[in-house]
Amino acid sequence: MNKTLSLLWCLTFSSLMFAQKFDGLAQTPPMGWNSWNTFATEINEQLVKDIADAFIKYGLKDVGYEYIILDDGWMAKERDKSGNLIADPEKFPNGMKELADYIHGKGLKFGLYNCAGSQTCAGYPGSRGYEYQDAKLYASWGIDYLKYDWCNTEKLNAEGAYITMRNALFNTGKPIVFSICEWGDNQPWNWAKNVGHLWRVTGDIINCWDCEVGHGTWSSWGVWKIINMRKDIRKVSGPGHWNDFDMMEVGNGMTDAEDRSHFAMWCMLASPLIMGNDLRKASEETIKTLSNKEVIAVNQDKLGIQGLRFTNANGFEIWVKPLDNDEWAMTFINMTDLPKELNFNWKNHEIGDNQNNKRLETHKKVYKIRDLFNHKNLGDTTNNLKAKIGVHDVLMVKLSK
Ligand code: GLA
Repeated sequence: MNKTLSLLWCLTFSSLMFAQKFDGLAQTPPMGWNSWNTFATEINEQLVKDIADAFIKYGLKDVGYEYIILDDGWMAKERDKSGNLIADPEKFPNGMKELADYIHGKGLKFGLYNCAGSQTCAGYPGSRGYEYQDAKLYASWGIDYLKYDWCNTEKLNAEGAYITMRNALFNTGKPIVFSICEWGDNQPWNWAKNVGHLWRVTGDIINCWDCEVGHGTWSSWGVWKIINMRKDIRKVSGPGHWNDFDMMEVGNGMTDAEDRSHFAMWCMLASPLIMGNDLRKASEETIKTLSNKEVIAVNQDKLGIQGLRFTNANGFEIWVKPLDNDEWAMTFINMTDLPKELNFNWKNHEIGDNQNNKRLETHKKVYKIRDLFNHKNLGDTTNNLKAKIGVHDVLMVKLSK
């Protein structure tokens, strides 16, 4: 064998031996829509097509939303005779390939859901024992994103099970974003960096500000419950590997102010921005929040640093996020049940992110202040930042030199 041939052989062999995740995907937090929060298993082809149309109609595609993800309930209850999954023929009469083509035809991407266990959480066929077969099928349909859940896994080892599916996806050669969903039970932030592109950090979200709703053996969590549970695992999040704070509940029944704060926080946390509302019926205010370019830019900042809490004293949650170019994003959220006056003296505060060795030097330097939700300049840090903030509402600013 000559040198070139043996090198080629080595490269092919080692790529098979050391399967990996697809690199270069999800360099910024993935943005899209998922069916679960609003529709559960009541999904169908027309709905998905309407959602894809809404991405275009409301300019959501233009501001960066890309993935349309079908969650649990897209499959028939049984595999076919060869063990292949089949799309539920009533819900998806033209099959998944046709639907993928429709979505791709709009310049968007298509995601599906399955589960590492024998059955999905809603009782459809899971991938356990069919990982390579399922991955090939997804690739043949042109699927771009897989959310992989954790029900009915008995004694499976989580890291091992997710590595098996990662390898199965990689083996297809079709780049597919791999979204790990084991609810943070096995601390994926300790092992998933090279396994998936994002991983859920908690159990399921629910559309409330700070509640817990029990379901017997598990609970759903309101926005602030989720944030407080996992605010301390910032370190592992970054380009290609994100802490996923769950699909958003913006537009699903909280107040417009709460929706704005929820959205602002998902941006500060560098969480994937996966919408979970009925886009066909979204209000103007909901679309305005979800499509706010200046706020989204904080989420999509190329450094990919997850924000941190500066303080939550005196009824305000104040969070900071270092951005590229020595800029900072900052959110002031009124946690009380009455409107509140903010009067923030920049000179009194020493704000920093020790983990990333970044300092916001407002006591030494002057920064310009930009109100991101309202697209207005608010002067600079020579003067106190003053604002009246409504109940559970947010003032989100960007500071630049
Ligand atoms: C789990 C996941 C949810 C959703 C459902 C589907 O609860 O955490 O996000 O995918 O399963 O059954």
